[in-house]
Amino acid sequence: MNGNLPHFDVLPTHIGFIMDGNGRWAKRRGLPRGEGHKEGAKVFKKIGEYCADVGIRYMTFYAFSTENWHRPRQEVAGLMELFTEYLSDGELRLGDNETRQMRLHFIGRRDGLPAELLELIERAERKTAMYDRVHVNIALNYGGRDEIVHAVQQIAAQVADGSLAPADITEQTVADRLYTAGQPDPDIIVRPSGELRLSNFLTWQSAYSELWFSDVLWPDFTEQDVNRVIEDYAKRSRRFGGV
Ligand code: FPP
Repeated sequence: MNGNLPHFDVLPTHIGFIMDGNGRWAKRRGLPRGEGHKEGAKVFKKIGEYCADVGIRYMTFYAFSTENWHRPRQEVAGLMELFTEYLSDGELRLGDNETRQMRLHFIGRRDGLPAELLELIERAERKTAMYDRVHVNIALNYGGRDEIVHAVQQIAAQVADGSLAPADITEQTVADRLYTAGQPDPDIIVRPSGELRLSNFLTWQSAYSELWFSDVLWPDFTEQDVNRVIEDYAKRSRRFGGV
């Protein structure tokens, strides 16, 4: 655990992180893009553990979108290797799960992922299923619209088989069929690296999320940046459409 942790009076329950800027970080150093992803993966672990230690209960990290398959084949293969390495190597794995009691959830499409990675994902979810202190979602082969389509397909099937009446479909009906079913929506979504958009991340769940942007590239993101996110969050007034 980290020593000398700050105390915050107001904490978001759920923070979403869009881990952007790895490629530019590498380019600035004259390195291949894959080196940026490797550094980004170290920061993923560092920030995940820090958030858990200061008391954040839910986090979602955007690791690979349904659109990322369009990247050069070598980059995609490198990312899949990196995910595999992080799940198979005890040193690199986010955790240590036993002390921090972090439950891992992978959100996104399972089809299309390499078989070895899929097995590791299922193992990680099984091995951490008993924890409830901290929940970490890793969005992998994830698209917000794709997630909603998937939910709609399930609802349509229930309407077709007569187990659900169209008039009984509510927001909760949809939310219950998302990958994040049962979890609170993100209170704040963090996007470093200067881009000001959500890029198909938690499309349904982000309806009332606060947004936090910075020019720092993800591999340069630090614990102090997390502190800034939390302090800024505490200053914002969330009205959810009220006054
Ligand atoms: C976007 O930056 C980043 C990605 C598509 C990959 C994010 C993945 C990681 C940080 C690894 C996470 C590791 C685990 C184990 C979950 P970019 O490549 O688009 O950067 P650029 O905009 O500067 O080109």
